[in-house]
Amino acid sequence: MSFDPTKPYNELPLLPPPEDLESRAVLRKCISANRALASLKVAGNLIPNQAILINAIPLQEAKASSEIENIVTSGDALYRADLLPGNPADPHTKEVLHYREALYHAYYKIKEGHPITTSLLHSICNDILRSEVQIRMFGPGKIVNKTTGEVVYLAPDGEVLHEKLQNLEEFIAGDDTLDPLIRLSLIHYQLEAIHPFEDGNGRTGRILNILYLVEKGLLDIPVLYLSHYIIAHKSEYYRLLRAVTEHEAWEDWILFVLDAIESTALSTYYKIWNIKTLLEDTAEQCRRELPSTVYSKELVELIFVQPYSKVSSIVDAGLAKRQTAARYLKELEKIGILKSEKIGKERIYFNQSLIKLLSEG
Ligand SMILES: Nc1ncnc2c1ncn2[C@@H]1O[C@H](COP(=O)(O)OP(=O)(O)O)[C@@H](O)[C@H]1O
Ligand SMILES: [Mg+2]
Repeated sequence: MSFDPTKPYNELPLLPPPEDLESRAVLRKCISANRALASLKVAGNLIPNQAILINAIPLQEAKASSEIENIVTSGDALYRADLLPGNPADPHTKEVLHYREALYHAYYKIKEGHPITTSLLHSICNDILRSEVQIRMFGPGKIVNKTTGEVVYLAPDGEVLHEKLQNLEEFIAGDDTLDPLIRLSLIHYQLEAIHPFEDGNGRTGRILNILYLVEKGLLDIPVLYLSHYIIAHKSEYYRLLRAVTEHEAWEDWILFVLDAIESTALSTYYKIWNIKTLLEDTAEQCRRELPSTVYSKELVELIFVQPYSKVSSIVDAGLAKRQTAARYLKELEKIGILKSEKIGKERIYFNQSLIKLLSEG
């Protein structure tokens, strides 16, 4: 049953692994990771306008998760592409925006009570790649070392692949005494090891992590910035996935995932807290310094929902007609809250402090 990287790994064991996974170290780490996640869940409610977080954090996650796959773009390019849909964006920027769409789309399905099934995973992958990706039949599910080009893993193929996927789907839907965070670690490994699609497996798997937390009620909105941790520990991420395949090194893998959850739950918590503080300070400054005909709570919130905005953003939000909207933005620039730049025919206004905050780790 030993693993041979030159052959499809059709012996990939089904879930759950037979061994006892709940060592003292794992249980201890489960407690702190769950605690951190619980504070993050509550922090999501610190900002009454949930659109602020739902817009900003999944975009960071989409950017980081794609970056793991060498799909690299900048926050600036992303927001510009979002705001100026007529302007051609580069393919990497588009792919990251598709990732965010895929995440939203699946998130709202889960919120409506849709279960996490193979077909949901399939549609997530299609949404990310914006094409009809097939579940592999006999095509090679290759994992290649991106630096050396060497094939490091061949995923199961043929009928076996369907059997593994079915088992994964049942495991996701099932329940036992295992902590959901341990289950999440098993699920992430298994999806990557099955590698059901030609491409997009890593990203689909990382979207699944967030959906699973939402489905289990451990998060309300998709705001865990997990890929940030994975980027910082990328070689360990690959090494530990591999070690499960080679010698069932589950404990190290589970501890890695639990630490990723704990650490990013805490950093996302602080990020939300900082956004809340900045929102309050900005509102306070606007109340003091803007003409009373310009100031409104909704206007301040809008430049947090859309850190890059233009006149039509204000019009579309129903806050003012064109001329007045243009004046609002100018007044916000005058008191230093926004900064503007002309791109083509459009003037774009940036909420600089928020953009800086979002781009920091
Ligand atoms: N040894 C391994 N065993 C299982 N999965 C792995 C291994 N090495 C890397 N992976 C997973 O494969 C993903 C890359 O697969 P790929 O289909 O190219 O995803 P994407 O298109 O999202 O790039 C990595 O992000 C990682 O999750
Ligand atoms: Mg890829």
